[in-house]
Amino acid sequence: MNVVGKRSQFSIPETGAAALELAVIVPVLNERDNVSPLLAKLADALTGIAYEVIFVDDGSKDGTQDQIEEVARYNPRVRLVQRFRRRGLSSAVVEGMCASVADVVAVIDGDLQHDESVLPKMYHAIANDGKDLAIGTRYASEGSVGDWDQTRVSISRFATRLASPIMKTPLSDPMSGFFAIRRSVMLEVIPQLSTVGYKILLDIVASAKQRLDTAEIPYRFGVRVAGESKLDSAVVLEYLELILDKLFGRFVPAKLIMFGAVGGSGAFVHMAVLSAAFNLLGQSFMIAQIMAVSLAMVYNFTLNNSLTYRDRRLRGFDWFKGLVSFALLCSLGAVANVGVSSMFYERDHDYWWLAGIAGIAVGSVWNFVATNWLTWRQK
Ligand code: GDD
Ligand code: MN
Repeated sequence: MNVVGKRSQFSIPETGAAALELAVIVPVLNERDNVSPLLAKLADALTGIAYEVIFVDDGSKDGTQDQIEEVARYNPRVRLVQRFRRRGLSSAVVEGMCASVADVVAVIDGDLQHDESVLPKMYHAIANDGKDLAIGTRYASEGSVGDWDQTRVSISRFATRLASPIMKTPLSDPMSGFFAIRRSVMLEVIPQLSTVGYKILLDIVASAKQRLDTAEIPYRFGVRVAGESKLDSAVVLEYLELILDKLFGRFVPAKLIMFGAVGGSGAFVHMAVLSAAFNLLGQSFMIAQIMAVSLAMVYNFTLNNSLTYRDRRLRGFDWFKGLVSFALLCSLGAVANVGVSSMFYERDHDYWWLAGIAGIAVGSVWNFVATNWLTWRQK
């Protein structure tokens, strides 16, 4: 695109370089051996387009940064954004996009699994055909997932179906991490994003106020040659959190829903321990109830620590400190629970069950807010 007409009125020394057209954002975590091959492939694919490549690294331990620096020092097209004490593919992509002024920004994995040769098609769909978004898809016409096994294909399809209620723009492959977007559209969406987890494209189409005019460009998902995938069980949880946040986040935080679900299952643990200790072991009711409360607390803490707060998971000695603070705060929650429900009950004896529910609601919200603030304090 010709941007000469838009040249700044301020006198900046002319570099003679063509106006920047495309930024390619590459999130990387331990991808040292993929850096140079990727840059070579991009240079091949993008001849004729004035592009820059922005790597976003979250503290790789294999020297990925050095590899990028070595190239970037001599090649102004290549830049490196280093983040500290931060993690997460979605937020890395967003921060990379924010670091560029190109009209079109694309995202590609740093492990050569995405087919860079379709990038020009994505770029032209936006720059010339006026699209807002151009996605690489594995599920339309000639697209393909390559040599994935049946299980991974089914999981991916199931996740896609799960996403349909939150998508304002129907996409054949909302899980794709390979796409390009008009930067002005992206800037409008950024304040609305959830940026939890991996699925930045899904986040974008779920957060945009309007349906985005989209081009779908098929490609074949490649095999990873060097390095390893960072996808683990956390990805599934973060995916659920993203969907919950988009469905209900306006009313209740996704973490509160997860916290509540854990608490609900904790009630069953409580009852099971109580009945076992009281009926089978013949303990007094008081002792049995104390055992049930204690075990339910450990259960709730453990589950919340590895599910709800997986992103801030406590380990080692911190785990014990966390358990103690969790138990103390939840005891206060229990006091609030009894206080509030008794107050309701005093007003109207007929609605004893409503009093019970009110106690649970106040106690749970207290437990959530207090432990979110103190036990799993965000660093
Ligand atoms: N900066 C940063 N921070 N980069 C990360 C992080 C992170 O926390 N986690 C992963 N990456 C980088 C990897 O180094 C790689 O370049 C890219 O993001 C994709 O990560 P992989 O670990 O290779 O993911 P994958 O191949 O399993 O998943 C891909 O396919 C999915 C579709 O099934 C990705 O493209 C996903 O975005 C996509 O949803
Ligand atoms: Mn990969």
